[in-house]
Formats: sequence, C-alpha cells, structure tokens
Amino acid sequence: MSGQAERPPAAALRPALPGDVPLLAAIAEAAILELTGEDYDSDQQEAWAAAASDEEALAARLAGQLALVATRDGEPVGFIVLADNRLIDMLYVRPEVAGEGVAGLLYDAIERLAGARGATSLTVDASDTALDFFGKRGFTPKQRNTVSRGGVWLGNTTMEKLLAAPPGPVH
Ligand SMILES: CC(C)(COP(=O)(O)OP(=O)(O)OC[C@H]1O[C@@H](n2cnc3c(N)ncnc32)[C@H](O)[C@@H]1OP(=O)(O)O)[C@@H](O)C(=O)NCCC(=O)NCCS
Repeated sequence: MSGQAERPPAAALRPALPGDVPLLAAIAEAAILELTGEDYDSDQQEAWAAAASDEEALAARLAGQLALVATRDGEPVGFIVLADNRLIDMLYVRPEVAGEGVAGLLYDAIERLAGARGATSLTVDASDTALDFFGKRGFTPKQRNTVSRGGVWLGNTTMEKLLAAPPGPVH
C-alpha cells in the first residue's frame, strides 16, 4: 500500500433509459435550486427548476436524442443531452458532486460521440452559471438571449465550439 488515497474516478457513464426520467428530473431541480443562486434570483431559479423538472416534458426532450447519465456506485449523479447531434440541450449534476469533474466527463464523452457522428460544431445556450465551464472547453459566446420560463425571464448566452475534423484515412 502506498498509504496515499487515490482519487476515485469522477463517475461511470451509460446511456439514459426511459426509466431514468424521475431521477434526472430530480437532479435538474436540485442543480438549479442549489448551484445557480449566484447568477439567478429565487423567482428565476424556481421557474427554471419547475420547467426543467417537468417529467413529461423531460421524457419528450430525451426521446430520440443522445443522453448520457453519470453514475457513482450505480446512482445517477448527473446527465447531459445532445439534441440533433449539435446542441447541448441539458447538463446538470447533483449539488453534492459539483466541482468534482462529473460535468467535464459527461461533456468530453458527448463531444467525442458527436464528432464521431459527423458533427462539425456544437452549440449551447449556456446559463450564466455554466459560462466559464463552456468557455474553458473552447466555446465562444455568440449572442445573449432572454428566455421565458413559466412567465419569468432569464438570461443565457448562445455559445459555439468548432470541432476539429476527425483524422482522415492514412495512406
Ligand atoms: C454547470 C455544471 C453542470 C458544472 O458541473 P460540475 O460537475 O460542477 O463541473 P466540473 O466539476 O466538471 O467542472 C467544474 C470545475 O471543477 C473542477 N474539477 C474537476 N475535477 C475536480 C476535482 N476532482 N476536484 C475539484 N475540482 C475539480 C474542474 O476543473 C472545473 O473547473 P474548470 O471549469 O476551471 O475547469 C453544474 O454547476 C450545474 O449543474 N449547474 C446548474 C445547472 C446549469 O447551469 N447547467 C448548465 C445549463 S447550460
């Protein structure tokens, strides 16, 4: 034994299943209510959380899209949804694991999958809370938006990242 505790891997990844919807809704709600308070007021947090955790709407949003779930000890701790192989539609982690690399792991995997499926760029309407996260991953801001969630207005920023072309065949 080295005597030094090794950092556990951030999480394991698997595709999302229809039965995950209630857990994923709960993760989205907790992430919004507990992680975005420096950037949005409580009315905005509550309206956004209610919209993102509506199970029927979430099931419809996941259907036919590429969605990955991060698990620790088999329990979902975060998820990401890629819509139309170009738009990061949702990215949420449990507040208990924030800052431990779970979103980074989810993002890296979805970027690789999107690239392998032919995507040449990715876009995201990044929350103010996620601006630095995406900025550090090579996204650049394109436009500022104001969107309504249940009648409450929230700001976000459309960001884009161009993906490197996959290596061609070696001759
Ligand atoms: C934005 C969000 C998804 C980020 O999730 P996260 O899991 O905390 O993100 P990560 O841990 O992967 O990255 C956050 C930082 O922690 C750092 N980190 C990574 N591993 C770490 C570790 N083991 N220990 C400490 N810090 C670590 C990362 O380097 C990263 O810093 P960086 O941005 O300077 O690179 C999360 O805050 C969230 O759910 N927010 C609320 C909802 C939201 O805004 N979603 C985005 C909608 S577009």
